[in-house]
Amino acid sequence: MRGVPATSIVSSPYMLTRQSLRPISTVRLPSDKYQKYATRYWDIFYKRHHNKFFKDRHYLEKEWAHCFSTNVDSTNHSSPKVVLEVGCGAGNTIFPLLNAFPNLFIHACDFSPNAISLVKSHEDFREDQVNAFVCDLTNGELCERVAPSSVDVVTLIFTLSAVSPEKMPLVLQNLKKVLKPSGHVLFRDYAIGDFAQEKLIDKNQMISENFGVRGDGTCAFYFSEYFLSSLFAREGYKTAEINTYCKEIVNRSRNIVMNRRWMRAIFCNQDPLDTQYASMLKPRC
Ligand SMILES: C[S@@+](CC[C@H](N)C(=O)[O-])C[C@H]1O[C@@H](n2cnc3c(N)ncnc32)[C@H](O)[C@@H]1O
Repeated sequence: MRGVPATSIVSSPYMLTRQSLRPISTVRLPSDKYQKYATRYWDIFYKRHHNKFFKDRHYLEKEWAHCFSTNVDSTNHSSPKVVLEVGCGAGNTIFPLLNAFPNLFIHACDFSPNAISLVKSHEDFREDQVNAFVCDLTNGELCERVAPSSVDVVTLIFTLSAVSPEKMPLVLQNLKKVLKPSGHVLFRDYAIGDFAQEKLIDKNQMISENFGVRGDGTCAFYFSEYFLSSLFAREGYKTAEINTYCKEIVNRSRNIVMNRRWMRAIFCNQDPLDTQYASMLKPRC
């Protein structure tokens, strides 16, 4: 891997909040500081972009509709599915999902208070359908807000990439506590070789293998199928489906071709009695 410095140059979060929302200067921060200040960087991101940065994500209802249909038990009693949208941002996954499946109940969390305010001020927000709250997924807060074993579907959409690889296991452990034994995780995120990763490499903004920092201080990890399925397996999930997708996007005005690459996967909560396979993988951690 080319250009992997111990430190990178980005804007200080303090400078951004005290003065203006535009970076006024740059400082060198040790690479672990990006995770230490991650909440602040993302919070500034939403203060700056509001809900204008990400487009609504309509692929969930198209690609995974079967995962959101109502539960029916052996006595023919039906109950709506409970979803947890992890790192919900401004709600670009939540509101298209609710539109397509009005019976869902969605817990939505993010560590950025600005993001949660945007969700709560969305015109389609209803308290009886969405439980939106501030929570850092890398500590134990999630279990204080969501009942154990109560969630049918976790949506992890371009969120795990924002977490450093060292802390990813903590996120998966917290999700496992709230997932039903029959629950699963729907995953979509950046793949190795994505255009944006190439740009970070060219600009010397990689802080560890496949983990880089953008100009605004937010981080992005680029996954391989092997890395992702091993990570989930070690934490007691089974890979039901995993694929890498590529799309060539031509920007004629800037005269560039962008190879966008992303991963799509489904992980099932694994029966705790069936953990031998996972524990065999532990030493690779
Ligand atoms: C690229 S956005 C994805 C937003 C959303 N899932 C969507 O579909 O548009 C990544 C989100 O993850 C959140 N995030 C990153 N690390 C987090 C953490 N440790 N705990 C909670 N949220 C986190 C960020 O604040 C940001 O809103």
